[in-house]
Amino acid sequence: MSDHDVTRRQFLNYTLTGVGGFMAATMTLPMVRFAIDPLLKEDKGKEKFTQIKLKVSDLTAEPQQVKFTVQDIKDGWYKFDQKKEAFVFKSDEGEIIALSPVCTHLGCLVHWSPEPPYPNRFQCPCHGSRFTKKGVNIAGLPATAPLHVYEVKTEGENILLGEAHPRLDIPAVPPSY
Ligand code: FES
Repeated sequence: MSDHDVTRRQFLNYTLTGVGGFMAATMTLPMVRFAIDPLLKEDKGKEKFTQIKLKVSDLTAEPQQVKFTVQDIKDGWYKFDQKKEAFVFKSDEGEIIALSPVCTHLGCLVHWSPEPPYPNRFQCPCHGSRFTKKGVNIAGLPATAPLHVYEVKTEGENILLGEAHPRLDIPAVPPSY
């Protein structure tokens, strides 16, 4: 027998090690893939836009309340739909503005009021905060930040809303405004 010949025992050892390694990899790789799957998704971090029923030609200077559902939100392995609301209007400058109705004090839902005693203000029923039409908080009231504003996109006549973002750099307006 030459130095290069493989004994029967060595052959069995190599074969069993190879087969064992292959089987271990076959069982382990799908588990690893499953564990990190959400991290590999291409849409991770991409802003999701949802079309609302209101069309560009339906917009008015008066805020209109719309409800919409963001579908298939992914949170790790969990997928769900989320109902949202917005007040949408066209500003004097012709910009489409979509505001979150969630009060920045403690999260109650504000409503739009064109009537006295505080006309053309968003008003919160919980602790009396008020906001201008552009969602800026009135100074001296419980809410100390403006209403969050949605990302807005248009595709022809369609309006699509993304995430609502806080605006931290806008000072409160005085009560006399
Ligand atoms: Fe709106 Fe408190 S939750 S004023």
